Amino acid sequence: MSRILIAAFVVIMIAVPVFAGEAVTYEKDIKGIIAKRCIFCHGTKSPTMEEFDRDKEGYKNKMKGPRLDTYENLMVLVKGSDAGALMRRLDDGKNTKDGKPGNMYARLGNTDAERAANLEIFKKWIGNWTLKRRKELSKEELEAIKAPEK
Ligand code: HEC
Repeated sequence: MSRILIAAFVVIMIAVPVFAGEAVTYEKDIKGIIAKRCIFCHGTKSPTMEEFDRDKEGYKNKMKGPRLDTYENLMVLVKGSDAGALMRRLDDGKNTKDGKPGNMYARLGNTDAERAANLEIFKKWIGNWTLKRRKELSKEELEAIKAPEK
């Protein structure tokens, strides 16, 4: 089998449960991906969003991003004060202005297939995949961002 076929097969196998109609939730689907792929730099030893905003450069140098260890902390970057940040960082380049992936996209997996499959899960969870910032989002657009906890 060609590598592309194998890659496509892997994507389908990973993505099937997501497309089977079952709702994607933080507890069931997202938490595990974050624990495996993100928590190393976004865990309890990382700054809160407020602390991070006060010294971005310092934390960057220490390879620490804002804490994504709980649903509440994550939601700040989904539809809170820093709405859309998660989507801007995870987009594969299809929705970005310069066509380049967000700088956390590479963290989604070790292979293209794994990154694509995990991105699909995040997209399903969010519902309204938008890279807009908080102040650019209308009330309807904000409400269309689902990202359920359970
Ligand atoms: C090797 C460490 C590392 C891993 C792993 C990592 N990140 Fe990050 N992340 C950072 C650092 C450092 C920053 C801050 C610097 C920057 O803005 O790029 C950051 C910034 C971010 C931001 C932007 C925060 C803001 O408001 O400015 C988001 C969103 C994010 N990461 C999401 C993720 C997600 C989701 C994953 C897992 C798929 C992940 N990151 C994996 C180190 C990491």
